[in-house]
Amino acid sequence: MFRKQISNEYDLVEPRAPAMLESLRAFGYNIQTAIADLIDNSISAGAKNVWLTFQWDGSESYISIRDDGKGMTEAELINAMRPGSRSPLEQREPNDLGRFGLGLKTASLSQCRRLTVCTKAVNQSPVTRRWDLDYVNQTGEWRLLRSAASGSEKRLASLDQLESGTVVLWEGMDRVVGETKTDNPKDRDRFLEMIEYVEKHLGMVFHRFLERKNKLKIWINKRLIEPWDPFLTKEKATQFLPEENLYIRGDQVVVQPYVLPHHSKVDQQTYEKAAGPNGWNAQQGFYIYRNERMLVAGDWLGLGLQRDEYCKLARIQVDLPNSMDSDWSIDVKKSRARPPSSLRTDLKRIARLTRSKAGDIYRHRGKVIARQSSESYVFPWLKKVKHSKVFYSINPEHPLVIEALNVPQEHRKVIQALLRLIEETVPVQQIWVDSAENSDLQSQPFEGVPSQEVKEVMMEVYNALIKNGLSSKEARRRLITMEPFQHFEELVASLGE
Ligand SMILES: Nc1ncnc2c1ncn2[C@@H]1O[C@H](COP(=O)(O)OP(=O)(O)OP(=O)(O)O)[C@@H](O)[C@H]1O
Ligand SMILES: [Mg+2]
Repeated sequence: MFRKQISNEYDLVEPRAPAMLESLRAFGYNIQTAIADLIDNSISAGAKNVWLTFQWDGSESYISIRDDGKGMTEAELINAMRPGSRSPLEQREPNDLGRFGLGLKTASLSQCRRLTVCTKAVNQSPVTRRWDLDYVNQTGEWRLLRSAASGSEKRLASLDQLESGTVVLWEGMDRVVGETKTDNPKDRDRFLEMIEYVEKHLGMVFHRFLERKNKLKIWINKRLIEPWDPFLTKEKATQFLPEENLYIRGDQVVVQPYVLPHHSKVDQQTYEKAAGPNGWNAQQGFYIYRNERMLVAGDWLGLGLQRDEYCKLARIQVDLPNSMDSDWSIDVKKSRARPPSSLRTDLKRIARLTRSKAGDIYRHRGKVIARQSSESYVFPWLKKVKHSKVFYSINPEHPLVIEALNVPQEHRKVIQALLRLIEETVPVQQIWVDSAENSDLQSQPFEGVPSQEVKEVMMEVYNALIKNGLSSKEARRRLITMEPFQHFEELVASLGE
């Protein structure tokens, strides 16, 4: 055993227990990332089930995380409760989700003042240990208590039914519920709302485990958590771009870019769910997985690329082994990863390609409509380039424009002036800004407009075509190829009746 020595060569400077434990609370977790860190431990311990209990009781509320993993012996538990139970430099088993020997303590104490762990290895009796911040503050020593707080034993009893497993219990949750009373409806609702955030976050970061054949099951207050697949891999319209392998010291990083489907290609519910907990725009970019556990949920990783509306369908899966943690600057919370400089060029190239393919989805839709009929009369607006500047003009060959100008000279001048004024002042900048902020909020042509009004406009075009010598049937056939009447087939059919 290590014995304290008196020496002339050095001073022994041990951390002060109360100050150190209080500081361990400030790693920057939120409730979602804290719980995910504990589930990492359950997965590394081979758990098939994780049961989360959120119990509301004002300031006495508690959260417990129970698993049916391999559990720990008493000696293992004592070591597990030690801050820095293992060195980050140690090599880990290939499927271990841990790295720093800190998560259990830092994640738990970020949310609560009393952390109790009860665990049971096969053929062993359950053993319990507890860090109680108030007690450490009082005594000033690293005293790990050997029992649960009085009255809390029953919260750990659920372990008895398992061959092996672990329960982590958070009490005194000052950071979650504070000093609130049980009957405070606002705080109670906030607590219930928090369960939803946690559920979404876990469904996201562990989706690969929840989707597997021999799946992990995570239960939250007895409800099974559903996986959230960021790549819509089961949708036919999702594009899988070619997978690439990149290397660091012979170890492989696998990069699989996806372009997700345009919202017209999937049902509305699927599209809305695919947006993810933070919304379409925020969830574009790289998704980084370490041993299949998601660390980063959509980010361009400081590669100099912005989150843009037109590339929101670009999502790129990156798979890392746990041997690259320091290359990627993985943090204790497992919520950050920075690409090593040796991979930045390749990642940027893959990002650019995926972004461009995602942008094609929107450009492509414009082309499809035009391809149905490449005649000159289809679009009311034309895009023109003059002296390498882009501008938009009203199509002089559009039947309605021809008809409008088919009037005596003095009226024609007014209409020509009006059309010119409209062309010169198209609010391009404003449209660009608005659609970059939220293209889904841009109204489609005649969206929400009563059919009668659409029909009135359509009728004028129809009459112009008839006047041009087309039969009623021919006029209808032409209308159906014209923007935006291709969306109003039934109305077109009803013309001339
Ligand atoms: N649910 C559990 N079942 C079995 N063993 C556990 C469990 N939770 C923690 N342990 C043990 O306790 C140790 C310490 O866990 P802790 O989360 O503090 O660090 P870590 O997982 O090793 O690394 P990291 O800081 O990256 O999470 C683990 O290495 C593991 O041996
Ligand atoms: Mg851990």
